Amino acid sequence: MNIVILAAGQGKRMKSDLPKVLHPIAGRPMLGHVLETVKTISEANKICIVVGHGAESVKTFLEQNYSDVTTALQSDQRGTGHAVLQSLPHLEINDITLVLYGDVPLIQAKTLQQLLALAQDGALAILTQIMVDPTGYGRIVRNQQSEIIAIIEEKDANLLTKSIKEINTGILACPTKELSNWLSRIGTNNAQSEYYLTDIVSLAADDGVPVRSTHPQYLWETIGVNTREQLSLLEREWQVTLAKRLMDDGVSIVDPSRIDIRGNLICETDVFIDIGCVFEGQVTLGKGVTIGPYCVLKNCEIKPNTQVKAFSNLEQSVVGENSVIGPYARLRPGTELMQDVHIGNFVEIKNSQIGKGSKVNHLSYVGDATVGKGVNIGAGTITCNYDGVNKHRTIIEDDVFIGSDTQLIAPVTVGQGATLGAGTTLTKDAPANMLTVSRAKQISVNWVRPQKNKSKG
Ligand code: UD1
Ligand code: CA
Repeated sequence: MNIVILAAGQGKRMKSDLPKVLHPIAGRPMLGHVLETVKTISEANKICIVVGHGAESVKTFLEQNYSDVTTALQSDQRGTGHAVLQSLPHLEINDITLVLYGDVPLIQAKTLQQLLALAQDGALAILTQIMVDPTGYGRIVRNQQSEIIAIIEEKDANLLTKSIKEINTGILACPTKELSNWLSRIGTNNAQSEYYLTDIVSLAADDGVPVRSTHPQYLWETIGVNTREQLSLLEREWQVTLAKRLMDDGVSIVDPSRIDIRGNLICETDVFIDIGCVFEGQVTLGKGVTIGPYCVLKNCEIKPNTQVKAFSNLEQSVVGENSVIGPYARLRPGTELMQDVHIGNFVEIKNSQIGKGSKVNHLSYVGDATVGKGVNIGAGTITCNYDGVNKHRTIIEDDVFIGSDTQLIAPVTVGQGATLGAGTTLTKDAPANMLTVSRAKQISVNWVRPQKNKSKG
């Protein structure tokens, strides 16, 4: 099968340096959504993207993410028919061609399969939609036998045609040979002086080729984006759809209008997600996990029954079962927590492993460290991992107790069962099972506080 995706338009109303089709929905460029969907409907596809405005950026995006697609340049935007014409040399002439749009991102595979099924025997299949307000769209004109005989654009329509509620979504499928033939016969004798792709419909009808239609399952599937407002509305529509799917799978979402999934969120049952959370990349939440309000999780795996409390920020981290993270915790890339770990408020962990049952509850930085089981790290502890040039590791063995306000100057090891006194600046390894403390001796002297000098007023 051939797939042509039109992406040459300027998107003037976006007022952006970024080509319209690269603006994201759910964290992925609109064009990427279309390509992801296309991948799921058939493997043997010849995909051609028609580029024009911002062609270089669109091509760069394609080279980096979809290197197997081809592009055709439409340097002047002379209409949708002219756009499809540019793709013809890249297509397999004996196959069916499916025409899609880079700014209609949420078309679903099921709808496309339905459309393609109608085009299998040489027919022209078009995706139409009944609209309460059809203003602006091309109208589907049918004869008395209810057969489609033409599509008439709004700008070319008389009052009677304008009253038709069935509109052209733009998406269609037909044999490529016929498409090529019809495109060679269309002209620009219309209100916009453009080559209309939609003119192939009346040519097909004249040629006695059956024109068939089907509707998308959901209205949002065929909504196109022209403005940033439309982009935000479609984003919300999609987020609510994703939230509903999760709820159907046994996830509690406090408010489906206040969640943002920019990637793939996989949840087991009885996950609870509070308001205002953002999930990016690949995130997996195990059974019974709760995510408090306003958390951001990017590329994380959270194992069952763990609580992530309000305002926590987790990236590229794995959190074990039955753990408690936050509120206000930050887990940076390379964090691996075993089960029953507690990470409290204003604690930052980076590139570190923390063993079962260990606790870092308040105001600490643990970076490039290996922390054993049953360790307690007191408030305000800092692993000084960076000497200004290189990063060094801190090793804290099992059952260590670290007093508050301790600095561990890496590379350094704290032996099993050791205790560090509060305020210690650890520059050498601390032996196992002993108390190590570095601190000036406490003294008390007589002291009179300075007085205000009254004579000078
Ligand atoms: C088109 C259809 C109309 C349909 C509507 C659905 C035609 C003539 N009309 O109208 O029946 O109801 O879409 O939204 O097809 N493009 C190019 N090159 C061009 C022109 C357009 O790549 O020379 C791309 C645009 O970037 C856009 C898409 O094709 O993604 C549709 O073009 P647009 O001008 O928005 O079509 P409409 O006038 O809305
Ligand atoms: Ca137009």
